[in-house]
Amino acid sequence: MRIPVLAFVALLLGACTERAGDRQPDYASLQPSETLSGGATTFTKLNPTVSLAQHAYSQPAANLGTQERALFVVGNSFFTSPWVSAPSSVAARDGLGPLFNAAACQDCHIRDGRGRPPSDGSAVSSLLRIAMDDGGADPVYGNQIQDRALPGVNPEARLSVRWQFTERQLAGGETVQLRKPVPQLSHLAYGKLQAAHHSLRIAPPVFGMGLLELIPARQIVAAADESDQNGDGISGRVNWVSESGAKEKMPGRFGWKASQPSVRQQSLAAFANDMGISSALFSGEICTQSQAACDELAKGGSPELETVIENAVLFYVRHLAVSARRAANAPEVLTGKALFNEIGCASCHRPHWTTGHSDEFPALASQSIWPYTDLLLHDMGDGLADGVREGEALGREWRTSPLWGIHLAKVVGGQGIGFLHDGRARDFKEAILWHGGEAEAARNAFASLPEQQRSDLLSFLKSL
Ligand code: HEC
Ligand code: HEC
Repeated sequence: MRIPVLAFVALLLGACTERAGDRQPDYASLQPSETLSGGATTFTKLNPTVSLAQHAYSQPAANLGTQERALFVVGNSFFTSPWVSAPSSVAARDGLGPLFNAAACQDCHIRDGRGRPPSDGSAVSSLLRIAMDDGGADPVYGNQIQDRALPGVNPEARLSVRWQFTERQLAGGETVQLRKPVPQLSHLAYGKLQAAHHSLRIAPPVFGMGLLELIPARQIVAAADESDQNGDGISGRVNWVSESGAKEKMPGRFGWKASQPSVRQQSLAAFANDMGISSALFSGEICTQSQAACDELAKGGSPELETVIENAVLFYVRHLAVSARRAANAPEVLTGKALFNEIGCASCHRPHWTTGHSDEFPALASQSIWPYTDLLLHDMGDGLADGVREGEALGREWRTSPLWGIHLAKVVGGQGIGFLHDGRARDFKEAILWHGGEAEAARNAFASLPEQQRSDLLSFLKSL
C-alpha cells in the first residue's frame, strides 16, 4: 500500500497546532460538537425566518432546570427594566445616578448583544473611557464620562463623534472604505478635563459570560506567549488584575482590554460607573470631590443594589446562552475555516476550550465550548490604539474578541451596530482590515487572498 504522505503530514501539522490538553478543530471537516458553540448550554431552536432570531442572545442556557429558569427571569427583569432615582415607590429598583450613562443594562447591551457608536449627538449604547498617562483617573471626571444626570445635576459633558475616512485596496482591485471615530466632548460641566487619553467603547455582547469565566486560569496562562517563543509573530499576554479588595492577581477576562477578572466585578462596576448604583463591591457614588451635588441627593439604600438582586442579575448574565452555528457544513464555510487557520486568525481567535469544574454553576461546568478567543491581550497596532492603560494592558493592546454567535449581531442589534471596540467596522471585512500589530500578517494575508477565498473566509465568520 502507498503511504498516504499528505495525510501523515496533515496529522503532524495538526499535532503541532494543537495546544496542550485541548482539542482544536479539524480544519478539513466538521466535528459534531463544533456546531454547539456553548456546549450543552447552546440555544439551538433558531429559525431564521421567525422573529425569535432577534431575541437569540436573550435565551437561557438550554440545560437549566425549572428553578434556575425562574431566577434567570428575575435577573432578566433587573437587567432590562430602567432603574429610577431614589426615593421611589419601587425601592428595589431605585438609586439611579446622580450621574449615569444609561438607566438599564439593556440600553447599552441591546437585546443582550452589542451597542452602537454615537450618532446624532447621542451616545446611548457606548461610552467614553478617559485616562491620564499612567492609566489613572482624571481628578474631576474619573475614568468615564457620564453624559446623563438626574434633574438638578449637570451631566459631565456631551459626547459625539466625527468620522475620519480612509480607503484600502484588496487583491483584485476591490476598494474598501474604512471609518474611524474621533470622539468629541462639549459642554464640559465641571471645568477642565485633564485626562488626555479618550477611548470610545461600545457595549460588547453579554451572552456566554459564565462559560468564559469557567475557562481554567492556568490554561489561559499556558496559552500566553509573551516573548513570542514559538516565533509566529504573535505574543498574547495575560492582563493580570486583582479582584476589588484582594491582593492576589488573576487573569483579566472581561471588557475590551480584559481588565475585569470576574462577571461579578465587571457587572458591579457597570452598576456603579454606568448607572450610578452602589453595591457591595463599589460602595460610594462615582462623583469626585468637585461634584458635590452627588452627596446631596437622596440615596436608594446603602448599598443601593440589594444582594438578592445582585445575585439574580449575575445569574442571568452568566447563563445567557450562546447561539448555535448556522450552515457550518456548507462547502464554502469549510474552505473558509481552513483559511481562518492557515492565515493565522486562529492563533488569537482560539477556537476551542473546555470549561472547568463548578459546584456553584453546574450547568456551565465541563462544557466543550467554541468561543474563538484566547482571552489574551495583543498589540493591535496604531490604527486601533487608544493610548489608554488598563491594568497591565497598554494603549495598543486589546483582548481577542470572542467570535461565537457573531452571525446574529445585526439581526439582534440592527444595522447600526458596529464591530471592534468602538464600533467603527460596519462589517467583518472592515473589522479584519483594521487588524494591525501582531495581527498585521494575518490582515495582509486576507487582503492578498483571491476574491473567492476572501468570500469563503467571510462565509465562515457568518457561520459562527
Ligand atoms: C452605558 C452603557 C453600558 C451600560 C448601561 C452597561 N454596560 Fe456593560 N459594558 C459596556 C461597555 C462599554 C463595556 C466594555 C467596557 C470596557 O472594556 O471598557 C461593557 C462590558 C460588560 C461586560 C463584559 C463583556 C465582555 O465581553 O467582556 C459585562 C458582563 C457587562 N458589561 C454587564 C453589564 C451589566 C450587568 C450592566 C447593568 C448593570 C451593564 N453591563 C450596563 C457598556 C454598558
Ligand atoms: C494578533 C491576534 C489576532 C489575530 C491574528 C486576528 N485577530 Fe481578530 N481580533 C483580535 C483582537 C484583539 C480584536 C479586538 C480588537 C478591537 O476591538 O479593537 C479582534 C477583533 C476581531 C473581529 C471583531 C469582533 C467584534 O466582536 O467586534 C473580527 C470579526 C475578527 N477579529 C476576525 C479576525 C479574522 C478573520 C482574522 C484573520 C484574518 C483575525 N481576526 C486575526 C485579535 C486578532
